[in-house]
Amino acid sequence: MTEDPRQREMELPPRASSLVESLRDMGYSLRTALADVIDNSITAGARNIHLLADTHHAAPAIGILDDGVGMTEEELFEAMRPGTRNPLETRSADDLGRFGLGLKTASFSQCRRLTVITRKASAVSCATWDLDKVAERDRWVVEIPDNADHVRWSGRLQDNGTLVVWEKLDRLVSPDRQDGRHDLVRQLDEAATHVEFVFHRFLSGRVGGRLAISMNDRELRPFDPFHSNHPATQHHPEETIRLDSGEIRIWPVTLPHHDKVTAEEWKRFAGPEGYVSNQGFYLYRNRRLIVHGTWFRLARQLELTKLARVGIDIPNTLDADWKIDVRKASAQPPAPVRERLRRIIERIGVPSRRAYTGRGARLTEASRLPVWRRVQDKNHIFYRIDEQNPVLAAFRDDLDPARARDFERILRLLASTFPLEALHVDVSAIPEEVRLSQIGSEDLRVIASSMWHILRSRGQSPTEIEEWMRSAEPFRARWAETSRVLTEICKSAGSTENR
Ligand SMILES: Nc1ncnc2c1ncn2[C@@H]1O[C@H](COP(=O)(O)OP(=O)(O)OP(=O)(O)O)[C@@H](O)[C@H]1O
Ligand SMILES: [Mg+2]
Repeated sequence: MTEDPRQREMELPPRASSLVESLRDMGYSLRTALADVIDNSITAGARNIHLLADTHHAAPAIGILDDGVGMTEEELFEAMRPGTRNPLETRSADDLGRFGLGLKTASFSQCRRLTVITRKASAVSCATWDLDKVAERDRWVVEIPDNADHVRWSGRLQDNGTLVVWEKLDRLVSPDRQDGRHDLVRQLDEAATHVEFVFHRFLSGRVGGRLAISMNDRELRPFDPFHSNHPATQHHPEETIRLDSGEIRIWPVTLPHHDKVTAEEWKRFAGPEGYVSNQGFYLYRNRRLIVHGTWFRLARQLELTKLARVGIDIPNTLDADWKIDVRKASAQPPAPVRERLRRIIERIGVPSRRAYTGRGARLTEASRLPVWRRVQDKNHIFYRIDEQNPVLAAFRDDLDPARARDFERILRLLASTFPLEALHVDVSAIPEEVRLSQIGSEDLRVIASSMWHILRSRGQSPTEIEEWMRSAEPFRARWAETSRVLTEICKSAGSTENR
């Protein structure tokens, strides 16, 4: 292209002192920042990563030490450059990076002083970004110390590997807060839990050999949100979606019901946000968890489907399609994938937003609710007592007309005062403790028996009645007892008929 001589040009490099402060606010938290630095260590082929935190020192510091390939001095300087690599560039298939920014943006989000010491082929190189110096000089200058011995933990560097050190943790410990250090310890604990979660497939050794990560020498253990090894976990058929730029693998799972796991497991797999919020897709990019607990607006997070979790594996060639962000903490499925995802979740019983009306109604179909009816009009859903229910109808038919009308009124009163809000609050907060009240054995016997006689008098066969009661509450849940009652009835009915 030839330059247009009439056009004026001017170079406007970003103002270092201002831009460097903006780079700090890309929305990282301590845990997402640590995960971003760990990504680099994994990409560098590390087998052991040590997260180090010195919270007792007057000037607390955090270190991330790996035994990966390390960098030459030239590579280190390039690594320290903000925007060192172009996101449009093709990366190797197991590279967890994309933007050439993470090391800097993640570190600056937590500290004002970032030092990287690295060793490759026994040569040690070191460089430091000190944001106070950048601000003061208003220039992008890195410090290059002659010797790295003074840097905390530098003695732990192996023959090959890299140590990232964060100092001046202004965002993590505010000097005027008494509880600052205590809060840092809490955040580090949370970060360790996060690392056990997002890197669980590396920690469990299922991907290319085992990776060990420790926090202050405590070994971190993988947390698999699918509870894959539990016998009561249901694994639904996997699917693959092939796009020009890569392949997507999808594996839906239903977690074990709470009576199949210990109370401790139930709580652990709920996660801090609970089962309802943690249902949904779990998106892994190169086996590293990016996003979890969302249906990507394809379905609602319902109590009914709280145990559904659907894993999605994408390669890094699909980054642009999925709109992966710098923090590796948000993504959106591209249009051609959305429809497939919708079909997959519907198949495993998650009513998609579109199908909710139909499926919701089916899941609570009348045969399951012999006393209550779910009624839906255009805008509302009601729960009513079914006055045509055989037991209720038979009782009403025995009353004189005035009492019968009173009885119907009472039923309507009960339905209209159903404690919907209290129930909703309880079911959302502590679903495992919410139970229907049980009717006693004698009541069950009387109701089952009168139901049987009423239906029989309407001409239904014993097999038909049994079939129906087997799927209707309260008999379904207490089928062993109900079945005994029916056997007794049949026996005595049989002897009457024989006489
Ligand atoms: N621990 C490490 N070991 C070896 N090389 C590293 C390490 N950390 C960073 N690098 C090098 O520095 C480069 C820049 O890292 P940075 O995290 O800033 O960007 P990225 O990983 O390329 O992309 P992203 O912004 O998506 O993280 C990396 O591409 C890698 O070459
Ligand atoms: Mg990176």
